[in-house]
Amino acid sequence: MAMSRKVTKAVFPVAGLGTRFLPATKSIPKEIMSLVDRPLIQYAIDEARAAGIEEFIFVTSRGKGALEDYFDSAPVLEATLKAKNKTDLLNVLQDTDMDSGAIAYIRQREALGLGHAVWCARRLLGNEPFAVILPDDVIAGKKPCLQQMVEAYENTGGNVVAAMEVPKEMTSSYGVLDIQEDMGALVSVKGMVEKPKAEDAPSNLAVIGRYILTPDVLKNLDDHSKGAGGEIQLTDAIAKEIDRSGVYGFRFEGQRYDCGSKSGYLQATVAFGLARDELRDEFLSFLNDIVALGKAAE
Ligand code: G1P
Repeated sequence: MAMSRKVTKAVFPVAGLGTRFLPATKSIPKEIMSLVDRPLIQYAIDEARAAGIEEFIFVTSRGKGALEDYFDSAPVLEATLKAKNKTDLLNVLQDTDMDSGAIAYIRQREALGLGHAVWCARRLLGNEPFAVILPDDVIAGKKPCLQQMVEAYENTGGNVVAAMEVPKEMTSSYGVLDIQEDMGALVSVKGMVEKPKAEDAPSNLAVIGRYILTPDVLKNLDDHSKGAGGEIQLTDAIAKEIDRSGVYGFRFEGQRYDCGSKSGYLQATVAFGLARDELRDEFLSFLNDIVALGKAAE
């Protein structure tokens, strides 16, 4: 069994403009948009905590102040709830509490790509393995995805990226893995391509927004070389580790929702709504009705 260092730091790249959700994202960061009543970023944080992450590094940009406020304490709100004996709501709030100093915010001054966003966190990451979580990818599952990956990483060492089969015509939206050896949940990787056209894709096994990376990946980003779409790509920096520290794809168990797209966000809203005991019956009967009638909101 390979010896690997414990993963205690995670980077959350949250600098994107969220243009696909305009006009909503004119004044709220898309990571604050909620599935039922929990912001997307809360799902990402909960998943990281379940995987043993202790330090949370947000790479933000101008206009993301609401994210910092979200993770701040809310003394007036708490005092009001306490005075009214709203213990349930107080518990909901306290579940989101983070230790002082557990979250760091770093600004990405220019939108140069995902690789660049992660590189912006290099000084805080130091010389340790770290996780990256893209909050747009919400993954529901019995065991949180990152926890599954940490367990896989404890066996493999090297770099582990979450992976999922996608329809071939969708490869141009993802990083795509060239498989060396398919071992079931785990695959060893001999190549990685960012957003290839279907005809150029080495497989249909796509990278999903969860990574456990070696610090060498950060060094590979130092030269700021540009890849697909003229952006500094994380995929390219990971690919450079294939013949060094090694790269593995990990087929996680769970349902992934692409909350960076309107359709994926709506699907997640329905799924997470149905998963709530207090909402299920009424919501399901509503869904059955509108589906039967083919009725849309006017
Ligand atoms: C990013 C990565 C891509 C990955 C995807 C997963 O792309 O660059 O390799 O497959 O996340 O969601 P983005 O969706 O930010 O364009």
